[in-house]
Amino acid sequence: MDEKLKQIKQTLEKYGQEQLLDEYNRLTSEDQKQDFLDSLLTIDFNQVKTLYEKSKEEPTFVNSKIEPIEYVDKAKLSKEEFKELKEIGTKEIKAGKLAVVTMAGGQGTRLGHTGPKGTFDLGLDTHKSIFEILTDILVKARKEYETDIPWYIMTSDENNEATVKFFEKNDYFGYPKSCVTFFKQGKLPMISTEGKILIDEKHKIKEAADGHGGIFHSMLKEGIVYDMKAREIEWVFIGGVDNVLVKPVDPILIGLSVKSKVLAAGKSIVKANPKEKVGVFCKRNGRPSVIEYSEITPEMAEERDESGELKYGESHILCNLFSLKAIEKVSQMNLPYHIAFKKAKYIDKDGNLVKPESPNAYKFEAFLFDAFESLDSLAILRVKREEEFAPVKNAEGVDSPETARKLYKDFHSKK
Ligand code: UD1
Repeated sequence: MDEKLKQIKQTLEKYGQEQLLDEYNRLTSEDQKQDFLDSLLTIDFNQVKTLYEKSKEEPTFVNSKIEPIEYVDKAKLSKEEFKELKEIGTKEIKAGKLAVVTMAGGQGTRLGHTGPKGTFDLGLDTHKSIFEILTDILVKARKEYETDIPWYIMTSDENNEATVKFFEKNDYFGYPKSCVTFFKQGKLPMISTEGKILIDEKHKIKEAADGHGGIFHSMLKEGIVYDMKAREIEWVFIGGVDNVLVKPVDPILIGLSVKSKVLAAGKSIVKANPKEKVGVFCKRNGRPSVIEYSEITPEMAEERDESGELKYGESHILCNLFSLKAIEKVSQMNLPYHIAFKKAKYIDKDGNLVKPESPNAYKFEAFLFDAFESLDSLAILRVKREEEFAPVKNAEGVDSPETARKLYKDFHSKK
């Protein structure tokens, strides 16, 4: 027997993943067989085993001490404070110390758009895509601060090619191509409720993006950290692709971080209601953290303080600033994985495609904000929803193109 096959068989047996050989045995061409074996070699089976075991545990915060966290309300800064922070931040930006990262690796499944989410036409009269809207923001900032702001776009295996092509076709919407770098995020196998790695409809290992918490590893692995160092970057704004009012070049946020001597900062808005699908900032065992909406208990979400405000009401809007030092530190660590139970098509042991009607598979995602706990402190800047948060997530209803379009138009008509 081929040595590679022999070794892989041993590994699969050790980890109880022999079902993967059914697929191998069904393949007819030698090339396909070799490709399949090569893809098995990239899997860390021990990690998959640990992740499966973890799927049976409760969310980690259950045993943690959770408390509200302090924040600075931008609207309540005195004139002098505002001026001071603005001056500090402006100086950093003008000196070319800021880079922007947009996380665009997720699939816009909820939006019902085929293609990278950033290519979605928001439905404005101009028919601008989300990517064009984000580029507009950077084009303006580049002019205002008279400096290049390197822009890194995180894609995934699934959408990298389409994303790069979209920018090429549109001449980078007027942003200098030399300032734009694409890099890919990582992925992990999806497993059944019995812990078995699945095969997808293309007869490959069923893999899914490993969540945006993988960004720090990817930035290191793909040479982004090195590139930032070479460009003497000190601050990195990291945001999602789906907020058309994002303010990535914000002197107040940078000023606050410098003044408070923190390694990272996040923007918050007041949570609209206990059920709003946003994570909330908090302190977990005394350290800065975010509890994701999928993990917070209904009781905690409803809890109010003496003044009637939600006790956990500082919403995380995925607009965070990291010092390059923090990124380097976190890129050496392993962030925890969160588990999502999803509907996933797969090929069964007899080679038939199964399209499940209900969730059947675990997907593992690391969250970027879990990095906060490894940093001693975090500055939080509360900003106004109508000025900085217009998410495009669902095809209809809340956080849809319709609501984002309205927020976008209202904001731009006021200026
Ligand atoms: C996210 C936040 C939530 C926050 C809300 C605000 C997470 C896990 N939660 O929720 O705390 O309150 O936004 O709008 O982020 N992405 C990748 N790669 C991935 C996964 C996601 O690049 O593997 C990107 C997506 O393209 C998107 C962003 O991260 O830009 C948010 O991801 P999504 O999974 O849609 O998070 P939400 O549920 O909207």
